[in-house]
Amino acid sequence: MIRFERNTELDIAMKNLIISMIDVNDYLTNILDYTERVLTPKMEKKLIEILKKYNVPHDGLKYDSKILIENQYYKDIKLDNVYYQSIRYEKATIKKRTLMNMNFHQSLGKYLFHYHPIGYFETDIDLPVLKEGSSKVWMSPAISEIESMRDGIEKGHGKCMTMGLGIGVLPYLWLLKDDVESVTIVEFNKDVIDLFEKYIRPQFKTDKKLKIIHGDAFDFYNEEFLNQFDYVYVDFWESTEDGLIFYTKLMEKKIDLPHIDYWIEDSMLYDLKYIVAPYLYTVYEGKSVMDFISSIDEDSKELAKKTNKYFKTRTDVIKTEDELLNIIHGKDVLRKILAQ
Ligand SMILES: C[S@@+](CC[C@H](N)C(=O)[O-])C[C@H]1O[C@@H](n2cnc3c(N)ncnc32)[C@H](O)[C@@H]1O
Repeated sequence: MIRFERNTELDIAMKNLIISMIDVNDYLTNILDYTERVLTPKMEKKLIEILKKYNVPHDGLKYDSKILIENQYYKDIKLDNVYYQSIRYEKATIKKRTLMNMNFHQSLGKYLFHYHPIGYFETDIDLPVLKEGSSKVWMSPAISEIESMRDGIEKGHGKCMTMGLGIGVLPYLWLLKDDVESVTIVEFNKDVIDLFEKYIRPQFKTDKKLKIIHGDAFDFYNEEFLNQFDYVYVDFWESTEDGLIFYTKLMEKKIDLPHIDYWIEDSMLYDLKYIVAPYLYTVYEGKSVMDFISSIDEDSKELAKKTNKYFKTRTDVIKTEDELLNIIHGKDVLRKILAQ
């Protein structure tokens, strides 16, 4: 079992970790009244006060619409309202000055405070959105989607593969890159593929090879298949909530290849960090780990059990704040916990 040396440095670090978790909650509650609402100048002023209070960057609230309008997918691919079996493309208009999340979580400081970059456009913006059923939003070329895939877009080279077609933003932006040779996609929903073939693929301005495999990502998540590609980007979840469940199932397969990235991985891992930190605090305080696990709500209990299972295998003694933070923020550690 992992152990701790009790000292002042760790006392303070533990306290700061817990305070940062409380601060995130307060911050989110405070900005809830503003998100997805049209900001009046008065509301904007109040919002800036809140951002300042929590040290969240506040000078970039106004986003230049060029960032979207000059995106090559947004420029080249036009989608009217199309309904097809279980799915549809709908045009959504974002009213000017509507406060939106412009990316997924970013960490702030060395503990567990994090925030979504937020902002608004000064003009109305139209976006095509891919929806399934009554409420599932699979994809739109919104800033948050593009920003959150930026690393994946940049890292794509040679033979690329992605799991989850959506409206083909990532595949298109990859294909436009000189160093990308071909793109393969694994997609589960035949309607998404049919709609893509009919309305989107004909608008792609590229002759490079684009192959779509109709299948379940889990059936293709094996070393033999994944090793056929130079770069793999896994993106078949809707948000951090369903994402963490799917991502955990992938981690349980214990495939550790350096050329795979996962959409919004860092954001999904925050939910786990929020279990790992109080778990380690419990161990540090010499309190009952079993009581801690029992106190976790049903949805996250499995994560708490995995956390316990992993730390029971460790025999090291943590002495410094750096060692503690390396555990909490270490992607390799967090992946190993989920793989339990
Ligand atoms: C967030 S979208 C992908 C967006 C895409 N990266 C883009 O650039 O447009 C997720 C896609 O994954 C698909 N999907 C969901 N579960 C899947 C599974 N188990 N295997 C393969 N595809 C799946 C959905 O039908 C949807 O098209």
